[in-house]
Amino acid sequence: MTAQIIDGKALAQTIAAQCREQARALDRAPGLAVIIVGDNPASAVYVRNKQRACEEAGFYSQKIALPDSISEAELLAKVRALGEDSRIDGILVQLPLPPHISGARVTNAILPHKDVDGFHPQNIGALALGKDEGLAPCTPAGCIRLLESADVAVSGANAVIVGRSNIVGKPLALMMINRGATVTVCNSKTRDLAAVCGGADILVAAVGRAGLITGDMVKPGATVIDVGINRLPDGKKITGDVDFESAAKIAGHITPVPGGVGPMTIAMLLANTLRAAQAARAASAAA
Ligand code: GUN
Repeated sequence: MTAQIIDGKALAQTIAAQCREQARALDRAPGLAVIIVGDNPASAVYVRNKQRACEEAGFYSQKIALPDSISEAELLAKVRALGEDSRIDGILVQLPLPPHISGARVTNAILPHKDVDGFHPQNIGALALGKDEGLAPCTPAGCIRLLESADVAVSGANAVIVGRSNIVGKPLALMMINRGATVTVCNSKTRDLAAVCGGADILVAAVGRAGLITGDMVKPGATVIDVGINRLPDGKKITGDVDFESAAKIAGHITPVPGGVGPMTIAMLLANTLRAAQAARAASAAA
């Protein structure tokens, strides 16, 4: 069997075009502020891509680059000021942050209705309670949209998520539970990972280890979603957590890297920023 490739790049382009169209209906462009602290090269690339997508969608975007030496108090003050800025509908602080800054305190300082990353406890709490009223984290939301686009049923599926991060694994587990999947979340201590993965109708790899998931770990016909973005030693090419060549021979559907989950994360950021902007306009119209 050769798997059908789920084209995240094409789906992301469609979603971005829809966001652009809907943004035009607003009296003022949705506004996104992206804060980057320090000079992590991978973060710089991600932030550049997010900003470019915003501009192409006709959104207002503001990049705030801060030095590694900034104190937590100064960063918190910046985040709070953006909370009061009426041009800004969404605030994103690129992670990781330097070790002297608490990521949790920074996330908590973002107003939940401007938290377009969906990391604030109130937004994660809404997911945990099965409510669709908050902003959901972008990468997990992108995974769900990829599954929907390929008509892969989540309800009733055995889903295995390899990786328990707060950014991907945990929120994706909640989203899949809410959609009726039976979910297993694996970590580095999981015994016999291959056997657990082998039971998955939907297998999601989100750990950041190139080639961790090989074809022999995949159930024939399963859907494989590869969240990994790993830079190969040549420094240029990126590869996923899944050994694509062997897995594609066994899976029913598979996402490529690049061109799978990555572009969808950015598309969902646009969708969240648009949603935050629409909610802000509705709230000010009602006031
Ligand atoms: N670092 C890696 N992924 C993400 C993400 O989705 N959002 C933010 N803010 N930082 C990240």
